[in-house]
Amino acid sequence: MAELLSDAVAVVTGGSSGVGREIALQFASHGADVVIADIQSDPRTGGTPTHEKINTETDQQADYVESDVTDKSSLESAVDVAETFGPLSVMVNNAGMFRSEDVLTLSESDYDQLMDLNVKGVFFGSQVAGERMRSTGTEGCIINLSSVAGLQGSGEHASYCTAKGGVRLFTYALADALGSDGIRVNALHPGFVETAMTTEDVPVVGTDSEQQYNALVPLGRLAQPEDVANCAVFLASELASYVTGESLLVDGGLINCG
Ligand SMILES: NC(=O)c1ccc[n+]([C@@H]2O[C@H](COP(=O)([O-])OP(=O)(O)OC[C@H]3O[C@@H](n4cnc5c(N)ncnc54)[C@H](O)[C@@H]3O)[C@@H](O)[C@H]2O)c1
Repeated sequence: MAELLSDAVAVVTGGSSGVGREIALQFASHGADVVIADIQSDPRTGGTPTHEKINTETDQQADYVESDVTDKSSLESAVDVAETFGPLSVMVNNAGMFRSEDVLTLSESDYDQLMDLNVKGVFFGSQVAGERMRSTGTEGCIINLSSVAGLQGSGEHASYCTAKGGVRLFTYALADALGSDGIRVNALHPGFVETAMTTEDVPVVGTDSEQQYNALVPLGRLAQPEDVANCAVFLASELASYVTGESLLVDGGLINCG
């Protein structure tokens, strides 16, 4: 049987850790060559760098390019390396940050840091990918990581909600702008996922918050990175050839029936 992503060439921002790492690994297991665009190659939770794992454990090619998504030129460099594998066909704008804050006292610099990473980084990644796909005539796809926080407000995470809501609407706008090029653009909206983001940055895993959260989720648990990566594989594949401008919830039922 043909692999779901054979001949695909992908760039995954923030692909060294967490959700992005699992997306990159699953893309490779389904036949894609992958470039990791991240500020560090070591996974935040330890282990073998993603690109090394792909190169040693699969038949696919992978590389790492030190890239800060707030710097458009470093994303261009990541795509340049990806194009040594073939025309870029999948861009995953995954890098992001999460924090708790007091909305009324949040400093301008903290606001700018989160917006630059979570919104401008997605915008830049999409610009670079869209331009390359258009110039090579590649009917590829762009996948943006939003969140349930892009659909529902949370008082302790106002800037994050602002950013992820922005990513959701940007995804719809970009899907409209690039549809005539055959380029599909979709967003993933996970609930809490067990990564360094929820074990270290805003500890949820192993706390009372996890139990309270799980009580609201029909499936009764946090997501694992694999749960999100499976959906990214679907969106990147021909199985989703008529899916664009979509917000795919990966939240165990939280938003619609929690
Ligand atoms: N973990 C969750 O509960 C959760 C829930 C919903 C949505 N998300 C979203 O999923 C995405 C991935 O989250 P995660 O939990 O895997 O996070 P993570 O912190 O585990 O991994 C983030 C990765 O992004 C990289 N990164 C940070 N700043 C960067 C920059 N400027 N340029 C390039 N790379 C950078 C980090 O080095 C790291 O490898 C984020 O957009 C996040 O908002 C996560």
